[in-house]
Amino acid sequence: MRFFRHVAASTLAAAHIAQGLDITINDTKSIDSALSTIAYGMVKYYQGNESGMIPGELGDPYYWWECGAMFNSLINYWYYTGDTTYNDIVTQGMLWQVGPDNNYMPPNQTKAEGNDDQIFWGFAAMSAAEFNYPNPPSDEPQWVALAQGVFNSQAARWDSQYCAGGLRWQIFTWNNGYDYKNSASNGGLFNLATRLGAYTGNQTYFDWAEKLWDWMHDDVGLIGDDWQVFDGTSIDDNCTSLDHTRWTYNQGMILNGAAIMWNQTNTREWRERTEGLWNASSYFFTEEMIMREICEPTTNCNTDQLSFKAYLARFMAASTKVAPFLYDSMMPYLYKSAVAAAQQCDGGSDGVTCGMKWTQNTTWDGSYGVGQQMCALEVIQATTIQRTSAPVSADTGGTSKGDPSAGTGGDTTDAAAPTDPITAGDKAGASILTVVVLIGTCSLFYWLAV
Ligand SMILES: *[C@@H]1O[C@H](CO)[C@@H](O)[C@H](O)[C@H]1NC(C)=O
Ligand SMILES: *[C@@H]1O[C@H](CO)[C@@H](O)[C@H](O)[C@H]1NC(C)=O
Ligand SMILES: *[C@@H]1O[C@H](CO)[C@@H](O)[C@H](O)[C@H]1NC(C)=O
Ligand SMILES: *[C@@H]1O[C@H](CO)[C@@H](O)[C@H](O)[C@H]1NC(C)=O
Ligand SMILES: *[C@@H]1O[C@H](CO)[C@@H](O)[C@H](O)[C@H]1NC(C)=O
Ligand SMILES: *[C@@H]1O[C@H](CO)[C@@H](O)[C@H](O)[C@H]1NC(C)=O
Ligand SMILES: *[C@@H]1O[C@H](CO)[C@@H](O)[C@H](O)[C@H]1NC(C)=O
Ligand SMILES: *[C@@H]1O[C@H](CO)[C@@H](O)[C@H](O)[C@H]1NC(C)=O
Repeated sequence: MRFFRHVAASTLAAAHIAQGLDITINDTKSIDSALSTIAYGMVKYYQGNESGMIPGELGDPYYWWECGAMFNSLINYWYYTGDTTYNDIVTQGMLWQVGPDNNYMPPNQTKAEGNDDQIFWGFAAMSAAEFNYPNPPSDEPQWVALAQGVFNSQAARWDSQYCAGGLRWQIFTWNNGYDYKNSASNGGLFNLATRLGAYTGNQTYFDWAEKLWDWMHDDVGLIGDDWQVFDGTSIDDNCTSLDHTRWTYNQGMILNGAAIMWNQTNTREWRERTEGLWNASSYFFTEEMIMREICEPTTNCNTDQLSFKAYLARFMAASTKVAPFLYDSMMPYLYKSAVAAAQQCDGGSDGVTCGMKWTQNTTWDGSYGVGQQMCALEVIQATTIQRTSAPVSADTGGTSKGDPSAGTGGDTTDAAAPTDPITAGDKAGASILTVVVLIGTCSLFYWLAV
């Protein structure tokens, strides 16, 4: 179920003013000016700080998780540029949505929340800690503790009963997709575990990262022989058949986790995995080295998918920080993609609305939204990763306070049983939808027909 947002309608109807954003790689001034314009264009879709609105929600057509993803990109924006314009609304929304157990399980969302939805809020809290983003007041939950809350609640959902382990996509039995184990959920927890390990130095997180890797790679093959990351697999056949769809964001979060593991262990094994995951990312770039999502050529991306390139760009840049051997081969892809993305930012009535098809470099493709803005923002700021300081840890100046037992209040399986009927829209739509319409044969996705 997709609804179009009224406020955005004017953007669509407006005449196209060819103006665009010119950026020059390595020219921080041109880049910061473009970033400021694009961030402004993104936050225009957010009204959560206005009276009567809910902080941390974007509203239709955006699902709850994407607001967490957007806040993460704004935390990153601040980290890259130092511009504090959006810090207040980000902090307000991040704290509003923590839920009673401080683990991003707010009762308004839990009816339909998936592990991959929750993890994006955990990522945002983790980024805040890694960058020493201003801490919440001391009577509020703290960034690392929130990430630990997300980690702990997800680790408790490890399901050994089927497929010898792994996280299910969905948290609750009543959601379709409860029988599906996907890379977004398992790769997401892998990513968060490595970052918590790096921040806190607590070996338990690295042990979890190893366990998640082994399950994804060795047991079920969600990470393939050539380091491709596939969408997911169903418990119905003991996770033996896979949906082989590949998405930018899955590759990105696992790549970044592997890079952190290499940084922490300096082993040949993790170096090979990191390099391999990067090599396999070539799937997401055209010959012109421009990033492209698989649903783009047929204009079949749903609202969620329109934002995925943001996370590959984000995690590529973060990976160069911890695994510098990636830098030289990675940056040209970010440069080319960033320049192409900026050229798509000449749409809408404001003349600076970003489209999604970066490969279509001369004309705005007519699409608009939070995802398009976020992708352009992340890929353009990623080109300046070298100007940023390395992520901090508790030992290297990190000021965020952790709580190893955060989030263990026992939300897991029956806490938020729905009080009102679940609609078909809730079922199909609540979690990150990873279905490509192109794939007509995949029976795993029968529920989409609902
Ligand atoms: C940007 O600067 C880096 C480091 O000085 C240099 O290696 C690279 O070639 C430059 N890239 C472009 C596109 O100017
Ligand atoms: C909400 O945030 C936006 C962007 O920072 C700002 O322009 C606007 O004034 C804020 N609204 C309120 C009511 O504070
Ligand atoms: C939950 O929904 C209620 C009613 O719409 C709203 O007042 C409240 O702020 C929401 N809470 C969260 C955490 O989103
Ligand atoms: C189910 O899959 C897991 C993981 O691949 C494997 O370890 C286990 O042996 C399988 N069980 C059966 C009954 O085939
Ligand atoms: C990645 O690609 C490079 C260049 O083609 C190659 O030398 C290297 O062996 C590859 N690494 C892995 C792990 O596949
Ligand atoms: C590990 O990452 C840190 C930044 O977090 C970096 O300073 C350091 O050089 C990296 N280690 C190696 C061996 O590259
Ligand atoms: C723009 O598109 C043209 C034609 O497809 C191509 O030759 C050119 O290299 C592209 N420019 C960029 C910056 O991608
Ligand atoms: C390390 O993390 C684990 C898992 O959250 C926790 O149980 C343990 O108390 C932590 N250890 C320390 C020393 O913080």
